[in-house]
Amino acid sequence: MTAPSDPGVDARLQTLTLTQPDDWHLHLRDGAALQAVLPFTARQFGRAIVMPNLRPPVTTAAQAVAYRQRILAALASSEQDGRQLPFEPLMTLYLTDNTAPDEVKRAREAGVVAFKLYPAGATTNSDAGVTDLLGRCRATLEGMQREGMLLLVHGEVTDAEIDLFDREAVFIDRVMRPLRRDYPALKVVFEHITTRDAAQYVAQAGPQTAATITAHHLLYNRNAIFTGGLRPHYYCLPVLKREVHRLALVEAATSGSPKFFLGTDSAPHATALKEQSVCGAGCFTAPAALELYAEAFEAAGALHLLEGFASHHGADFYGLPRNRSSVTLQREPWTVPEQLPFGDATIKPLRAGETLRWKLQP
Ligand code: DOR
Ligand code: ZN
Repeated sequence: MTAPSDPGVDARLQTLTLTQPDDWHLHLRDGAALQAVLPFTARQFGRAIVMPNLRPPVTTAAQAVAYRQRILAALASSEQDGRQLPFEPLMTLYLTDNTAPDEVKRAREAGVVAFKLYPAGATTNSDAGVTDLLGRCRATLEGMQREGMLLLVHGEVTDAEIDLFDREAVFIDRVMRPLRRDYPALKVVFEHITTRDAAQYVAQAGPQTAATITAHHLLYNRNAIFTGGLRPHYYCLPVLKREVHRLALVEAATSGSPKFFLGTDSAPHATALKEQSVCGAGCFTAPAALELYAEAFEAAGALHLLEGFASHHGADFYGLPRNRSSVTLQREPWTVPEQLPFGDATIKPLRAGETLRWKLQP
């Protein structure tokens, strides 16, 4: 029975066991920051698509291989209870106007699974991104289509005259539609979608187009950034949108469609850099990622659809095997830490100091 005061919540369900999920969009950073944040992801997820927007960005196969080694070294030195977490980083390359078409083949041979499109200036460390995808990157896109390499898209135009809240919708017409028309066999993931427009576009697109959705875009609308004062920890890009868009994202995520899957976009920034006059974009959700998704799915009465979204659809779209192990969430209140160590600094996770109702079992 569903309690009428809390629609969609099945009070009888105390534990939820899922095929181990993967995170199809993650920022791990490098150095001490990498060391600090990696264990939060590795204890929950079997694999993660690792974003390449380091400084300098990861633009070559050789750099991706080296970055992968640093991630594996960080994993080895963060053993939990004497055992190394069985986590696999899936590497991506940062597409630029000057990416050599040959780099696609080298990347595939090095095990890189995707290229990431950052429109130049769209977000954190995107200065070296693409200025004109269909003008400058055609040979590379053809190579990607031929080699079976995915394209992951930060879907926002960057023109100053386009309202920040409209940038994703305008991107669909200006970039996604021509891209799909010209490269129909290329697998494209519309990353961290934030609007009803994008959810509808992906739902009606062909089978080579999918989307990731973050937990924070399922849980919050743009009021969260302004409630009782300016709240920098809710500021990310693409920025949170109106409630109508959040509802459309929840509908897409809980539709059972294999085109929508989990990508946290957990994006760590030191507390001091979030809580200053100019604050970087990003929500650090890794410490409670799966719990936040469980909260969003439960609120929609769709906990039974979480496993497909979190553990099956992404692997299927990428053409990778589903994980064979499992994880269990328990209905058990716990409080998200106020601060966590982040190299020489500290970092505040989303929902710091608040109580969550689901807890991942160790
Ligand atoms: O909020 C965001 N943070 N969006 C992005 O696209 C980049 C990310 C980051 O790297 O911090
Ligand atoms: Zn991201």
